[in-house]
Amino acid sequence: MEEKLQLLGKEAIAALAEAEDVKELENLRVKYLGKKGELTELLRSMGSLPKEERPRMGQVANQVREQVESAMNEARKRIGRLEMEARIAEETIDITMPGKTFVQGTKHPLTQALDELKAVFIGMGFSVVEGPEVDTVVNNFDMLNAPKNHPSREMSDTFYINEKVILRTQTSPVQVRTMMNTKPPIRVISPGRCFRNDTPDATHSPMFNQLEGLVVDKGSTLGDLKGSLEIFARHLFGEHTQIKFRPHYFPFTEPSAEVDVTCFKCGGEGCSMCKGSGWIELLGAGMVHPNVLRNCGIDPEIYSGWAFGMGIDRIAMQKYGIDDIRLLYENDLRFLSQF
Ligand code: PHE
Repeated sequence: MEEKLQLLGKEAIAALAEAEDVKELENLRVKYLGKKGELTELLRSMGSLPKEERPRMGQVANQVREQVESAMNEARKRIGRLEMEARIAEETIDITMPGKTFVQGTKHPLTQALDELKAVFIGMGFSVVEGPEVDTVVNNFDMLNAPKNHPSREMSDTFYINEKVILRTQTSPVQVRTMMNTKPPIRVISPGRCFRNDTPDATHSPMFNQLEGLVVDKGSTLGDLKGSLEIFARHLFGEHTQIKFRPHYFPFTEPSAEVDVTCFKCGGEGCSMCKGSGWIELLGAGMVHPNVLRNCGIDPEIYSGWAFGMGIDRIAMQKYGIDDIRLLYENDLRFLSQF
């Protein structure tokens, strides 16, 4: 009996030492220590032993069971470690592998230019407003004091949706919308797309972008306009930039001017960029015509205002040395990825 016990114990311990996974371990537990296990059966059969042998056998049996149980615990720990190692090996991330590269795009040169323009004016206290690209003849022409026979009203110049609705030819109707909706003091800029029935060439596109500016307040003057545009031009083209007002005509401003800046390439000496003149045309501007203020319900005896409008495309072209406006609208990645 004792021999049998020892033998079974050795067998169990050897088997446990070989066990490789939890399932095998469980099978061995059932085989030896389970209710019908071999060791359990043997212990149960002790009842048939002569009385005087029982205590000793009991001792041996307990010893063997303890040994098997501790071998079992050992095996459980060992297998736990093995499984953990296997799992770690399986889940290892190879951090030396090259990552996925994401190709990062860049902003369209027009957007870059616009961002810069906005930043300068926001810095001077302007807020940004928007108006619709499809607007009325009333807002685009009538309210802006355009004479009924103004050539820009012609079908050959302007895209008509119907008699009363057009694709705006300028951002100036946003002046009207702003003055109708808000009371002075007003200090806004308004960028956006405009449309004119032009044949595309290097300097013309039927769709282009303008940035409008409008200030209306008590006592705002032409001096404020000049000073503000000078600050703006210096931010954009460098601190030595000078500006020059040339008399001009716009129906909605009086007096009106075209504003030039000293050529940022040659500094005013004259070069190919400025066609030898030393100056580059920057924008149109003027004091808001009293008729326009009146049309929008603002008393020109109390308030005065000034406005300006510039072509964002042309500014972007000058800044980035782009020689054909059509490039801005062709969406050619070979061109766009240069910026
Ligand atoms: N709207 C004018 C244009 O398209 C520009 C302008 C705006 C001039 C505001 C004066 C004041 O040419």
